Amino acid sequence: MTPAERDMERATRMLARAKHVVVLTGAGISAESGIRTFRDTMRGLWKDFDPATLATPEAFARDPEVVTRWYDHRRLGCLAAEPNAGHTALVAIERGLIRRGGRFTLLTQNVDRLHHRAGSANVHELHGTIVVWRCTATGNELEPPPSPFREFPPRSAWGGLLRPAVVWFGEMLPIPALDAAARALRTCDCFMSVGTSSAVYPAAGFVDLAAASGSGTIEVNPQETPASGRFDVSIRARAGAALPELAARAFGTGT
Ligand code: OAD
Repeated sequence: MTPAERDMERATRMLARAKHVVVLTGAGISAESGIRTFRDTMRGLWKDFDPATLATPEAFARDPEVVTRWYDHRRLGCLAAEPNAGHTALVAIERGLIRRGGRFTLLTQNVDRLHHRAGSANVHELHGTIVVWRCTATGNELEPPPSPFREFPPRSAWGGLLRPAVVWFGEMLPIPALDAAARALRTCDCFMSVGTSSAVYPAAGFVDLAAASGSGTIEVNPQETPASGRFDVSIRARAGAALPELAARAFGTGT
């Protein structure tokens, strides 16, 4: 057995025995849907911009036109994308667990809504979503149609500027999602991190919270990350290849 086969075998055993599986996803799971990962996103039109300086309340206050153009460009990309085999495999894992009386919690840093569209039921969006926008004057939210805004920065019917309902650097994560994460990480017995560079906290620390609760931990990422050494098992493969294999091995095909 090669080391990679051994890792797949260990991860399968962990999943097959688990009663509560928590999965954390990052941009890598949507890469195979054609959505660029965060650290790969500033190409073409946007190559001269730094995401860390666009994804902040200060950038929006300084230049709402540039920031909303960038987010609208990404919003349309997310709406045009389709869930891939990785997203679908997580749905199979969730359904497989529920069928045998287990629990499944999906914590995502992604704002693209592809997990919902794939059919995942228990999803918590830690960084909000790009498909919903919020009026900065009233806090009211709306889902804009799948076409570009007509003016930049877009203005809401309630009078304020519209901004994407995502979490920017320096902003609080939504309390309900954080609460759900804290609760899940206390009770899980299998934690799997998929397609995240583990560079941004608090999500980067979830593996430690899960391990402190006695959970087994699995990382799925074709590249090593700063957190790799803190996982019990690392699967060095694309989510679209590794997750369907894990789902089929742990829950049987046709889940
Ligand atoms: P990153 O862009 O930092 O990392 C994407 C990760 O996905 C990398 O580690 C890649 O190796 C991996 N990857 C690429 N293709 C993959 C595939 N097919 N299957 C599995 N993994 C793959 O994205 P995130 O970790 O999600 O926050 O970034 C975390 C947060 O930082 C984002 O939510 C965003 C960003 O700045 C905010 O905007 C607040």
